Amino acid sequence: MSTTTFPTKQIRMGIIGLGLIAEYHMRSLHTISGVSIVAVSDVNPHRLQAIGEQLQLPTSKRYAHYEALIRDPEVDAILSLTPNDVHFDIIRIALEEHKAVLAEKPLTLTWSEAGQLKKLYTANPVPLLVHYKHRYGAAFQYTKQLLDEHKLGKIYNIQFRYLMDAFSPYRQHPYTWRHNLAKAGSGVVGDTASHIIDLARFLIGEFKSVAALLHIITPERPDPVTGLPVKVDVEDLAAFHGIIGDNTVGTFITHKNAIGKRHDIEVDIYGELGTLHASLNNPESIRIVLRDLEHPDAEYETWAVPAIYNHTADGDFIKLARGEFVDRAPLFDDGYKNQWVLEKILQSWRENGRLVEV
Ligand SMILES: NC(=O)c1ccc[n+]([C@@H]2O[C@H](COP(=O)([O-])OP(=O)(O)OC[C@H]3O[C@@H](n4cnc5c(N)ncnc54)[C@H](O)[C@@H]3O)[C@@H](O)[C@H]2O)c1
Repeated sequence: MSTTTFPTKQIRMGIIGLGLIAEYHMRSLHTISGVSIVAVSDVNPHRLQAIGEQLQLPTSKRYAHYEALIRDPEVDAILSLTPNDVHFDIIRIALEEHKAVLAEKPLTLTWSEAGQLKKLYTANPVPLLVHYKHRYGAAFQYTKQLLDEHKLGKIYNIQFRYLMDAFSPYRQHPYTWRHNLAKAGSGVVGDTASHIIDLARFLIGEFKSVAALLHIITPERPDPVTGLPVKVDVEDLAAFHGIIGDNTVGTFITHKNAIGKRHDIEVDIYGELGTLHASLNNPESIRIVLRDLEHPDAEYETWAVPAIYNHTADGDFIKLARGEFVDRAPLFDDGYKNQWVLEKILQSWRENGRLVEV
């Protein structure tokens, strides 16, 4: 019997914003067959030239303005990797051009921008993946499977900690767009909290209410050029709680002043039948304890994460761009609903931490 193999559809990528996260995506894209990076854009001419040289792109494909890149007929799909104040316009033009977009989180700078995109997207949808990459963490994917199998029964409480040490004083991190409300929309709320909000929605369900406490640990940081102090006008610590899904209490804390935690997300899930612990830094196993009347003294066990959770956000995005099916991927609606939770966290804090409906 003869088999027919279909050639993989080539996807020609254009990358907008050539900073830190672009390095990650470029490494990831290079592992996927049938993908080529054909154009790049950055407002920083040095960065544009360096990455243009690295990718051996002709100068005609190194765009100073992202609009020309998105409208280039030789670009099929866009990676939108700029600071948050540019996300809306990139997605808006990509929708106009009907091109696939991988959108960095948060979806937009403001809730009002998300609302405008929702209308445009609903009228004319394109393949769009929002890069909540931690949803792809193997231990979190396995946790999702165990919860879907009701291993823990009804879930009473889910506790998330997303901690880093990038802003700890000993690192002397300079002032960047991340510390600027006009460029970032919020501090760690849109930055790291948006990831654990996505994980909570993925694992448990939609937010029903939220109450927040936001805090600035470091009120000024040195300008990277002059060294002079610049005022930070966004929070660098966020703690919040709320009701999620079927009456689960969610508790969350995130900041980047956690010395000893280079970069970790940890979750503890407490249900009627047991407790589960999973983390970003241990993708190979989860810890679980299951007790009942017959096993009242059962102890924590370590369960190996099956080696089946090996897909990536970039891999799923390329599948979407080719018109293929993807399962469990964070799509436009996830970005939109996530942005609503961010908006409600900011509202709660403006109202002195009141519990607000989501
Ligand atoms: N999903 C994740 O895990 C993750 C991790 C890090 C960053 N991010 C997101 O990625 C985005 C970029 O973050 P980063 O850490 O790479 O920032 P960065 O500051 O390292 O890089 C941003 C780049 O965008 C360029 N830029 C700025 N305005 C531009 C414009 N109008 N057109 C083209 N280029 C422009 C800058 O010159 C810079 O090179 C942010 O939205 C951030 O939230 C997501």
